[in-house]
Amino acid sequence: MATHLALTDVNLRFGGVTVLTDVTFEAEPGKILGLVGPNGAGKTSLFNCISGHYRPTSGSIRFDDDEIAGSPPSQLNRRGLARTFQHPALQLNHTVLENVMLGGHTRLPGGPLAWSLRIPPTGRRERETRDEALALLEEQGLGWAANSRADELSHGLHKSVELCRARMSRPSLLLLDEPAAGLSQGEVDQLIRTVRRLAAENDMTIIVVEHNMTLIAELTDRVIVLDHGSKLMEGTAAEAQADPRVIEAYLGTEAADDAA
Ligand SMILES: Nc1ncnc2c1ncn2[C@@H]1O[C@H](COP(=O)(O)OP(=O)(O)O)[C@@H](O)[C@H]1O
Ligand SMILES: [Mg+2]
Repeated sequence: MATHLALTDVNLRFGGVTVLTDVTFEAEPGKILGLVGPNGAGKTSLFNCISGHYRPTSGSIRFDDDEIAGSPPSQLNRRGLARTFQHPALQLNHTVLENVMLGGHTRLPGGPLAWSLRIPPTGRRERETRDEALALLEEQGLGWAANSRADELSHGLHKSVELCRARMSRPSLLLLDEPAAGLSQGEVDQLIRTVRRLAAENDMTIIVVEHNMTLIAELTDRVIVLDHGSKLMEGTAAEAQADPRVIEAYLGTEAADDAA
């Protein structure tokens, strides 16, 4: 079952720095929601609050009927949440296949400790995990890379490997942080097909942070725009792109970047 996610008045502060202010929105089950906004708007921090990497200063985050604000990432992962990171951290001297298999560790008897100690693979569940990881890589057009070392792949492809790893825990809620950054046009098209299928066939609720507005327009029927930690507007991708407040928010950061 896809997850219903509801955030109400989420605030995040670090000392005197306000990162998020009264962020309220819902992600509907089985839908793909876009989260956009200029650099520094707070998108990754918001993901960190949802995934348990940050504890919101105040506010509510409901995962179906449960309040999850402040729950640790490992618990949320078992509960059905998986994510990818803006800057993926793969085990660089391990193979792509081994990296993807790590995502299934919650379902393996040995657990992450046995994995990190490289205890040799044994048993039927182990083989099932391997087969499943390979199938996911092939489905995402990465079967050719299964036995390459992770550091032989481009940074863009690391994100696709990370997506396979996230899928191994069979999530009902998936958070993707800039999955298309560094990908070629062909790889972006493949990503769009994969993410669409995940929502439609695997019944996942997906939130995607992305600057590539073609991807956002093709994947989502609703987007949330964040600026300076607050929700600026909510609507379709086309409405967001035409909204003067959104245009100004993006121009504002470009002007700031130019001045820097
Ligand atoms: N752990 C932290 N301590 C202090 N400031 C932080 C921390 N994490 C994020 N921030 C600040 O929050 C703001 C939003 O950052 P971020 O969430 O990465 O934005 P985005 O992903 O939209 O580019 C930035 O000003 C950043 O410096
Ligand atoms: Mg970010």
